[in-house]
Amino acid sequence: MVSKRIGALLLVLALCDPVKNETFPSLLTTNASIAVVVDRKFLVEDYEDARNEIEEYLVYAKREILKHGGVNVYPYSWTSINVRKDLTAIFSITSCYDTWKLFRLTQKEELVHLAITESDCPRLPSDTAITIPLVDKGQELPQMLLDLRSEGIYNWKTLVIIYDATLDEDMVTRVIKAVTQRKYGDVKATGITLMKLEPNLSRTELRDFLSTINPKVLGNNYMCIVSYHLAGNIMEYAKTLQLTSTINQWMYVISDTNDNFKDIEAFESQLKEGDNIAFLYNSTFKSSNCKEGRKCHIEELLQAFARALDQAIQDEYETANQVSEEEWEAIRPTKPERRDFLLKNMNHYLFKNGACDNCTNWAMKTGETWGVEYDTSDQRAEPKVVPVGSWRPGDGPVMTDELFLHTAHGFRGKLLPMITFHNPPWQILKFNSSGEVIESSGLILDIVKELSRNLNFTFRLETLNKTSFNSGTSNSTSFDVDSDFTNQVPKALIDMIKNKTVALGACAVTVTEDLEKVVNFTVPITVLSYTFLVARPKELSRALLFISPFTMDTWLCLAAAIVSMGPLLYFIHRHSPVYEYKGYPMKGGLASIQNCIWYMYGALLQQGGMHLPYADSARILVGGWWLVVLVMSTTYCGNLVAFLTFPKVDIPITTLDELIAHKDTVSWSFREGSFLEKELAISNEPRYKTILERRLKHTSTDNEGLIRSMVEGKHVYIDWKQKLTFIMKRQFLKTDRCDFVLGLEEFFAEKLALMISPDSPYLPKINDEIKKLHQVGLIQKWLQDYLPKRDRCWKNRHLIEVKNHTVNLDDMQGSFFVLFLGFVLSLVWLLLEKLWHGQFSKRNKPAIQPFNH
Ligand SMILES: *[C@@H]1O[C@H](CO)[C@@H](O)[C@H](O)[C@H]1NC(C)=O
Ligand SMILES: *[C@@H]1O[C@H](CO)[C@@H](O)[C@H](O)[C@H]1NC(C)=O
Ligand SMILES: *[C@@H]1O[C@H](CO)[C@@H](O)[C@H](O)[C@H]1NC(C)=O
Ligand SMILES: *[C@@H]1O[C@H](CO)[C@@H](O)[C@H](O)[C@H]1NC(C)=O
Ligand SMILES: *[C@@H]1O[C@H](CO)[C@@H](O)[C@H](O)[C@H]1NC(C)=O
Ligand SMILES: *[C@@H]1O[C@H](CO)[C@@H](O)[C@H](O)[C@H]1NC(C)=O
Ligand SMILES: *[C@@H]1O[C@H](CO)[C@@H](O)[C@H](O)[C@H]1NC(C)=O
Ligand SMILES: *[C@@H]1O[C@H](CO)[C@@H](O)[C@H](O)[C@H]1NC(C)=O
Ligand SMILES: *[C@@H]1O[C@H](CO)[C@@H](O)[C@H](O)[C@H]1NC(C)=O
Ligand SMILES: *[C@@H]1O[C@H](CO)[C@@H](O)[C@H](O)[C@H]1NC(C)=O
Repeated sequence: MVSKRIGALLLVLALCDPVKNETFPSLLTTNASIAVVVDRKFLVEDYEDARNEIEEYLVYAKREILKHGGVNVYPYSWTSINVRKDLTAIFSITSCYDTWKLFRLTQKEELVHLAITESDCPRLPSDTAITIPLVDKGQELPQMLLDLRSEGIYNWKTLVIIYDATLDEDMVTRVIKAVTQRKYGDVKATGITLMKLEPNLSRTELRDFLSTINPKVLGNNYMCIVSYHLAGNIMEYAKTLQLTSTINQWMYVISDTNDNFKDIEAFESQLKEGDNIAFLYNSTFKSSNCKEGRKCHIEELLQAFARALDQAIQDEYETANQVSEEEWEAIRPTKPERRDFLLKNMNHYLFKNGACDNCTNWAMKTGETWGVEYDTSDQRAEPKVVPVGSWRPGDGPVMTDELFLHTAHGFRGKLLPMITFHNPPWQILKFNSSGEVIESSGLILDIVKELSRNLNFTFRLETLNKTSFNSGTSNSTSFDVDSDFTNQVPKALIDMIKNKTVALGACAVTVTEDLEKVVNFTVPITVLSYTFLVARPKELSRALLFISPFTMDTWLCLAAAIVSMGPLLYFIHRHSPVYEYKGYPMKGGLASIQNCIWYMYGALLQQGGMHLPYADSARILVGGWWLVVLVMSTTYCGNLVAFLTFPKVDIPITTLDELIAHKDTVSWSFREGSFLEKELAISNEPRYKTILERRLKHTSTDNEGLIRSMVEGKHVYIDWKQKLTFIMKRQFLKTDRCDFVLGLEEFFAEKLALMISPDSPYLPKINDEIKKLHQVGLIQKWLQDYLPKRDRCWKNRHLIEVKNHTVNLDDMQGSFFVLFLGFVLSLVWLLLEKLWHGQFSKRNKPAIQPFNH
């Protein structure tokens, strides 16, 4: 056992007056134990002094401060200690490395750790420890930068350090270590670029120097550790070189400020809208009663501990007195609870009364710049620097706000004016009778609302009188077919955006080259493509289905074949000598042309004939015919089945080329003055030229008429696909039929975006937010919400359905009709036969009469 105990330090305080004679509840712990580690290796020759200082102060504290309890002290002179179970606290003076080692060693015991250590040491976690780095006067910069970093006040992955001769080489090394050092246990690498400013640079040299900085390569975070005058110049050039932006962060550490030279407000004139600029400067003051040094800290720390401990014992005593022992056993504070109580009280005490090193003080101020321009409450609103916190060696950074106000909180709730107008479904405004906007919705306003949440601003909508806008009455939330939204943005609106009367044009506007010259657009909110709306192709009548397997000329050929084959057969049959030779009778059967034709017809319908020619010559002919019949009827049957099961429709118009092919029967139109018209006009493609030239110009606003001719298939309307779906929906609601289909071809992408003033610094920020919204699919979802819901026309909105057809009477009607025709024809024939027979018998009467005499 190597632990060496300094026995003399083991002092226990006799309980003092008020409590002395009372009986303590037996379970109350009045004696706390504290391990005091004074590292001999770390302090070397100061070791004895430090030990004595501690010893003396503890004696004093026990006598004067700890009136309600005692403290058992276990001293060690090196850092490998055995941790006793009953320890309450540990007090250590050792190197940074050993402090952290000790901390880890004792972490499980839930002790209060009071550490005095060397400079440039990351502080122990503030919920279990109080760390006092002993910072030399005038050397506090690295410790401060380290503290800010480990507290997460700035948290940068890349960093450009620009420094001048006020920082000596040793300090540079320490600063780099401070901003790169891994917080113990926390791996966060920082990529650092060092830029040294040579002394006595001329202004142009400084400018050239700064112009080499490329934020795309070096990152967005800059730390300038420079003298006061240089800081002013750097700010000026950073501004003109556009190195300041809403994304870049500049931290100016003004190294040569002192108590009579620290006018940070002078930099206000260099601040501009959208900057993120923070200043750290030395506000140390010189005074005769400034205390500092190890002894001061030892005493202060032990005093704070003794006071907190005394308070804790007193509180516990009072509670314990009021309850029974069993209850006390149940409610007494646990070790972590006691630790938290002690730390809270100590921090409170040190913050209020800490006098050591309290003259050394660095102040932090930040430019409040975002949205100041649009502040209408203040006539001459200018960016200001506001205090955000301070740093002292004892308690580290104390922040009243974020160091980079706007990086953390965006616009900080600023009220930004925006301009908009009613234009569903992008912007849907409702007005009350005095013309005030009482409700706003629509895709763009959804986006603006989301931006206002993410960038932390509020907004006020200003509206523009557009001729088409019927304030108060319109509650349409969809595209109007008859709306005269022509993408012609009112000039007044552009002016207001340009001259920064408003911060953002909260309206969807088509991105055009002309407008891009005047204002800046955000990334597109949505891209609309054009297509056309055409009447759904009609199913053709199925009455003549039974003739459709063959084309007309096939039918004609067939008829001709029947008619010509009859006489041919008759001829061959007639002239065949076989009958004479063999002595067969040559009557009946095929002996008349008429019968031959009927025979051929019967064979065609596969009914056969009663008579077969006897002669081989005729049989060969008949055999040939049968072959034709076989091919013919098989083809017919097959095709007929196909025609029966698939519906027969009009040839649909699905592409622009097909539309142009129908130009003689179909007219088309689109919105005059639209993006489409412009695109068509500048296009070289012949088909686009045709579309433009042969369009029907709307002269009247007879939309009903237009829709009617569209339903009839005489007209085709070209517009945004989304708008066309509204027309489809409306027609569906009106007629309960799916009258229209969309063209398959989509052409010309029209981008819609928001407008912002050309020199607004917020464009990249807003673009980032919009991109994020795109990525998570919110914009798409919102747009879907405003577009028509799916209905039964939705599934086949592009093409007519191709589904199997069940054979019904419609398909059969043709053949029945033919049957009926046959019946009528045979009746007529019967009549003719009767007539003819009558005539015949009358004519033959005189010839017969003589025989009857
Ligand atoms: C406090 O310590 C003193 C000295 O060691 C001892 O006499 C006293 O009994 C202790 N009190 C408690 C409650 O442990
Ligand atoms: C810079 O200028 C100061 C005074 O103008 C002069 O004293 C100093 O020597 C110069 N330093 C260098 C490195 O030129
Ligand atoms: C801060 O100012 C004080 C008093 O003016 C001065 O003594 C000290 O050296 C300065 N600190 C630094 C880091 O310049
Ligand atoms: C520093 O401590 C001294 C002595 O306690 C006190 O007079 C002074 O006001 C303190 N200064 C600050 C800035 O707290
Ligand atoms: C918005 O800004 C206010 C004022 O600075 C701030 O208190 C608030 O936390 C911020 N909100 C968000 C979400 O950042
Ligand atoms: C219209 O709304 C505004 C703002 O909410 C309100 O001040 C005004 O009185 C309203 N006008 C009418 C006629 O309701
Ligand atoms: C808007 O137009 C209406 C009538 O067209 C007019 O009465 C009203 O004053 C206009 N409002 C503004 C702000 O121009
Ligand atoms: C407003 O909407 C209601 C129901 O949605 C409808 O009955 C009314 O006709 C609409 N008014 C106008 C002016 O469109
Ligand atoms: C900006 O333009 C609008 C519209 O032209 C005008 O009413 C306004 O006075 C202008 N504002 C400034 C600051 O120029
Ligand atoms: C903004 O517009 C200006 C001209 O109006 C143009 O030079 C600049 O490149 C635009 N900025 C962006 C980010 O598009």
